[in-house]
Amino acid sequence: MAKAKTQFICQNCGTVHNRWAGKCDGCGEWNTIVEEDPMGGIGSGPGKTPKKGRPVTLTSLSGEIEEAPRIPTGMGELDRATGGGFVRGSAVLIGGDPGIGKSTLLMQAAAALSRKGHRVIYVSGEEAVAQVRLRAQRLHAADTEVLLAAETNVEDILATISEGKRPDLVIIDSIQTLWSDTADSAPGTVTQVRTGVQAMIRFAKQTGATMVLVGHVTKDGQIAGPRVVEHMVDAVLYFEGDRGHHYRILRTVKNRFGPTDEIGVFEMSDKGLREVANPSELFLGERNANSPGAAVFAGMEGTRPVLVEVQALVAPTTLGTPRRAVVGWDSSRLAMILAVLEAHCGVRLGQHDVYLNVAGGYRISEPAADMAIASALVSSLAGLALPADCVYFGEVSLSGAVRAVSHTAQRLKEAEKLGFSSAVLPAASSELPKGTTGKWNEVENLPDLVARIAGSRLKARSEEAGD
Ligand code: TYD
Ligand code: MG
Repeated sequence: MAKAKTQFICQNCGTVHNRWAGKCDGCGEWNTIVEEDPMGGIGSGPGKTPKKGRPVTLTSLSGEIEEAPRIPTGMGELDRATGGGFVRGSAVLIGGDPGIGKSTLLMQAAAALSRKGHRVIYVSGEEAVAQVRLRAQRLHAADTEVLLAAETNVEDILATISEGKRPDLVIIDSIQTLWSDTADSAPGTVTQVRTGVQAMIRFAKQTGATMVLVGHVTKDGQIAGPRVVEHMVDAVLYFEGDRGHHYRILRTVKNRFGPTDEIGVFEMSDKGLREVANPSELFLGERNANSPGAAVFAGMEGTRPVLVEVQALVAPTTLGTPRRAVVGWDSSRLAMILAVLEAHCGVRLGQHDVYLNVAGGYRISEPAADMAIASALVSSLAGLALPADCVYFGEVSLSGAVRAVSHTAQRLKEAEKLGFSSAVLPAASSELPKGTTGKWNEVENLPDLVARIAGSRLKARSEEAGD
């Protein structure tokens, strides 16, 4: 038998190395490589004598399904992100920074499901029973029949949840605290986390219970992050947000049973998380419409339109190399827009610092934001406020042309609903909404847009002169 060699595994991405190194080649993180015993774990390692397999009964696709395959929680935003509720027999991973509100969200979901008569078990490995009870009281969930355990041993947890009536939902908070007798490594290492998660997934598949696993995103790599188990679970949701802001976004990154481009929006209050059904109102809440450099972007998140303000500040630089700072958007995309403005529109920004911020701590990932960003930049440079009732969207190509984007009608309808009566959009847009009264201004390229913004000053002057 071959001698078992120890392996060095990156705790961030799971890459296996032959020897220890300071930096992981796989993900580029530092000090994340830890020595582990590959023989540990529930599945037999490469060195073990193979066990003789036992044939399983093959079955057909069209069989009887006894129960509703999904259990909706009744929390609209959570159900939206999961694609209509938790799927029975599936494993869902909820990742996020420590303290962002994962335990709060799941306690609220557990209470909601319990009120509907489902059997819910909450296994806390991080907090003592008293702490979880305290939180439950604060969330007005203490009167529900959620079953609670504070336990971290995988075998003990399995024995507990296998007892009695089958649970509908089991919450494990968190996977980093799980440890199994069968794995030799320390709790929190890749081997332990994988072993624990594997056992939990197996329980879900065998019994039809939904397993919700909480995983902390860790930067220092002292404990294994949720990435190392992403491929094992059926759905991966990330709970994001800025500590400085109250709202939180539940973003789906993987879903075997639903769409992956939906988000759920919540607001953290003193009574737990509150659902935000209309995110645009939240992101536009602190708007100062009359200042130069602010443009409202009509964006999309999955099937839902989201209006958000982008703010630009362009100011003469005092440095040799001007500063470009971006919050909430891609900095290389900003560099591209600046280059197109310089090359095709004669807008000189080489002697200016450029700061860009997306209001409310929101993050835009759509290229459709190009036009809104370009408008905000030009508006700030020219010192001209954009019309307060106008939204912007459209993708800008390197040639300066403005490209059409999808969901034009939905974006415009949302804008109208929130009181915006005009929009600047790509000329080639199809599907303009019918029966609306808004003023939809189509532009073909970025120079058109710049001329339109600069033209507003001339118009204002001539009106003044005409009076
Ligand atoms: P928590 O759910 O414990 O975070 P995680 O499980 O992701 O580590 O939430 C922690 C933060 O949420 C904490 O800083 C306090 C805040 N919070 C509220 O603001 N209101 C509440 O009602 C609760 C329960 C928590
Ligand atoms: Mg927690």
